[in-house]
Amino acid sequence: MKLKDKDVLGIKELTAAEIELILDIAADMKKIVLSPSKKAHYLRGKSVIMLFYENSTRTRVSFELAGKYMGADTVNVTAAGSSVQKGESLLDTGRTLDAMGTDIIVIRHSMSGAPHFLAKHVRASVINAGDGMNEHPTQALLDMFTIRERFGGFKGLKVAIIGDIYHSRVARSNIIGLRKMGAEPVVYGPATLMPVDIEKMGASVAPTLKDALTGADVVMGLRVQLERQKKALFPSQAEYAKYFGINSENIAFAGKNALVMHPGPVNRGVELTSEVTDCENSAINEQVTNGVAVRMALLYMLVGRE
Ligand code: CP
Repeated sequence: MKLKDKDVLGIKELTAAEIELILDIAADMKKIVLSPSKKAHYLRGKSVIMLFYENSTRTRVSFELAGKYMGADTVNVTAAGSSVQKGESLLDTGRTLDAMGTDIIVIRHSMSGAPHFLAKHVRASVINAGDGMNEHPTQALLDMFTIRERFGGFKGLKVAIIGDIYHSRVARSNIIGLRKMGAEPVVYGPATLMPVDIEKMGASVAPTLKDALTGADVVMGLRVQLERQKKALFPSQAEYAKYFGINSENIAFAGKNALVMHPGPVNRGVELTSEVTDCENSAINEQVTNGVAVRMALLYMLVGRE
C-alpha cells in the first residue's frame, strides 16, 4: 500500500501501477467522504502542514479536510502571514517545519521545482500541490479518478484538453498521466499558448477546435492564467471566448455523453459558458469531491497506519 518514493512530486515520477493503486485506494476513501460521520483514524498522531505560497481554495481546503477526516493534525501556513514576509528562505522555512516533527508538507509555489528542492532537504514527505508551470500531480490524479469512475478505465479514450496549455501545470500532469494509463490526450488552444514540445509529452495537437472536440469522450477546459502572462498572449477575453471557449454549440461535436471537466476556478463565459459549466454532463463538482478522496489516499499511502 506504500509508494516507492518518500514524496509525491509529479506524475512523471509515478508508475502506471502506482497511479492505479492510488485510484483504487481513493475509491475506498470516497466512501468515507460520502459517509455521514467522515471519520477514520489512519493518520492519528500525524501532522500535515499546508505551505502555500500561491492562492488556492480547492487544493488547500481538500488537503486539510483529507487530513482531518483521517484524524491528522493539520496546520495552514500561507506566505502572506508567515516569516516568509520577513525574508525567510524556502529552505529555512522547510527545515523549521521539519524540526517541529511534521510528517507531511504539502507545498504550492510559483517556482517550478520548489517541491523537489524542499524534498531533498527535509525528513518529512513532500507533496507537490502545484509548482509554477511544471506539474499539479494531485489535480491530475483526481481528474483521472473522475474519468475512471465514469468510463471504467482509460484505454483509447479521447481526452480533449482546451485552452492555455503553455502555462498549465494541470495540462502537463494530465497529459503525462493519461498517456501512462493508455488514453489519447488531444490539445487545442491559441498558438501563442501552445508549448513547442507538447507532442514529445504525448499529446497530439488538433488543427481546429472542431477537430479537438469531435468524438471526444472527455472535454477538459483549462483556466486562462492571466497571472502567469508577462505580456498579452491573446487580444481579449471576449476574443478568447469566441475562438477557444467551449459553448453549447461546439460541445455538440463531442460525444453525447462526453464528460465536461475543468480544474477550477472557472472563468465563466471565457473558457466555458455557464450552460456548459452547469450542464448534466459536467463533472466539475464531482472533481472537487474526488479531490478530497484522492488526497486522503496519498496522505494514507505516505504515512498512514495499515
Ligand atoms: N484546481 C486548483 O488547483 O484549484 P485551487 O487553485 O483553488 O486550489
